[in-house]
Amino acid sequence: MILVWHHAEDKPPSWEVPSVPHLDDPEWAEPRTFEIEIPVHMQDMAENNMDPVHFVYIHGHNKIPETEFSFSEDGSRLTAIGHNKLQTSDGGTINMELIRETWGLGLSSIESRGIPGAGFFMITSTAPIGPRATISRWLLFCTKNVADTMGEEWFSRITAGVMDDWRAWCNKIHLENPVFCEADVPLSEFRRWAKQFYSETA
Ligand SMILES: [Fe+2]
Repeated sequence: MILVWHHAEDKPPSWEVPSVPHLDDPEWAEPRTFEIEIPVHMQDMAENNMDPVHFVYIHGHNKIPETEFSFSEDGSRLTAIGHNKLQTSDGGTINMELIRETWGLGLSSIESRGIPGAGFFMITSTAPIGPRATISRWLLFCTKNVADTMGEEWFSRITAGVMDDWRAWCNKIHLENPVFCEADVPLSEFRRWAKQFYSETA
């Protein structure tokens, strides 16, 4: 994955890209790659991550995840931590944490924590290739101890989840002043934060 800075007004980069610690960690397996072109504005891709309500109606989760938000001091990074419960095959539950970090509109990472001894992490780069066309490239990492078992299942769940969203993306329309419900707070917070990444001329 090669990242390139482009600014509509030729301004220099205003924030640094994150380093990915799992790339050099011997406990983690080689990343898998995934790439997809989607007929949406690139902000729709970023919003998907910050829209807790759709996890129930599009992805079939049983509950809207509670989400905490924080912003880095310079404002360039947004962190959202979602909490969810995972049912195990023996009838138990595991408390899962989904840690999502977003830098600008085009770069984000997701880490799943909660399954003892198993690590799952992904980083995605999203770039516009047209007014309503986006290319999204993903690096998917998991720890070596689960690469061939749970890792495989996790990767196919992630890629299947993208196809769930596909139907919604293909039919989305943009509303200047949408009606938000109470559970949409993360989405409205995200929209407020994302405005800083558009230049005056955009
Ligand atoms: Fe989604």
